[in-house]
Amino acid sequence: MEIIRLDDLTVRFTQGSFNKRIIYALRDVSLSINENEAVTILGESGAGKTTLARVLLALEKPTSGKYLFMGRNVWKDRKARKLIRKEVQYIYQDPISALNPSKTIGSSLSYPIKKHLKLKGEALRSKIFELLNAVGLDESIVDRYPSQLSGGQLQRVNIARAISVNPKVLIADEPVTMLDASYRIGIIDLLADLKKKMNMTLVMITHDLAIAKYFDYKVGGSKSFVIYGGRLVEEGYVSDIIKSPLHPYTKFLVSSYIDINGNYNSLEFLKYKEGGISSQGCPFNERCPYVKDACIKEFPRYTSIDGRKVACYLYGG
Ligand SMILES: Nc1ncnc2c1ncn2[C@@H]1O[C@H](COP(=O)(O)OP(=O)(O)OP(=O)(O)O)[C@@H](O)[C@H]1O
Ligand code: SF4
Ligand SMILES: [Mg+2]
Repeated sequence: MEIIRLDDLTVRFTQGSFNKRIIYALRDVSLSINENEAVTILGESGAGKTTLARVLLALEKPTSGKYLFMGRNVWKDRKARKLIRKEVQYIYQDPISALNPSKTIGSSLSYPIKKHLKLKGEALRSKIFELLNAVGLDESIVDRYPSQLSGGQLQRVNIARAISVNPKVLIADEPVTMLDASYRIGIIDLLADLKKKMNMTLVMITHDLAIAKYFDYKVGGSKSFVIYGGRLVEEGYVSDIIKSPLHPYTKFLVSSYIDINGNYNSLEFLKYKEGGISSQGCPFNERCPYVKDACIKEFPRYTSIDGRKVACYLYGG
């Protein structure tokens, strides 16, 4: 059943005070996410991934378009926004800045439990220990401060805090990017494991195809949304996207992916030009080797191919 739906959603920012610049962090994005689904949001830095997460958390009000959560129109329904505070939880990229340095781990974990589950005393203590066990941490950690833990341990604390209220949706925004390589696999394994045990929708945000591929394998298949310059450019299962990318930007990502032996997947990425995000037409038109006149004028329409969706003039547009 559908839990999240975005219809033609746009988030526009104005940057600079003297030299004002309009930025579309998200532009006309429509997507649907089901209950208990695993989803990957793939895109490079500045693509709009964190803005999308903030929209889903109802922290960012869209400039236009609609966000429906469990069928309720979030920006017309205050109760829906309140529901989201509990049901949609977030894991930050930087595990240390997500925690208050002056509070013990036990104290940081108690706050959402007291607020949303109204537990106190012994029930609160045992809930905290149960959570620490669930994320593979020793109970003795409750009295420590964030500065006394490793990056991997801190991210586990953040995960414990996020799942403490039994959310329906967990969004992990580049959760392993700032961690040492040795901790990364463990964190993804933990998230995949928790998703299965808790029947959550898990949204993995990453710029790294290797992470997307591993996550996909661990969760047994994940739907993926590829975004570029605030536009959703391709949608399909991660395995299909890696096997046969349709959009030129996805082709670029897949070809420039470095495998476990340190080799590029293919040298096709060398065909792509350097360039920025184009504000007119297809956002990829400055870098795309297949660019034609239409690509500079207008963003292409979405085309469905074998259950996938792509926005590119190579497929009709
Ligand atoms: N509050 C804001 N005010 C102005 N511009 C913003 C704001 N938030 C984001 N942006 C701009 O919107 C675009 C998308 O930003 P966003 O943080 O969503 O990208 P991202 O995909 O998460 O990038 P990264 O991988 O670096 O985290 C960027 O150009 C960014 O500079
Ligand atoms: S729409 Fe045009 S510029 Fe954009 S990816 Fe497709 S071919 Fe390239
Ligand atoms: Mg981000």
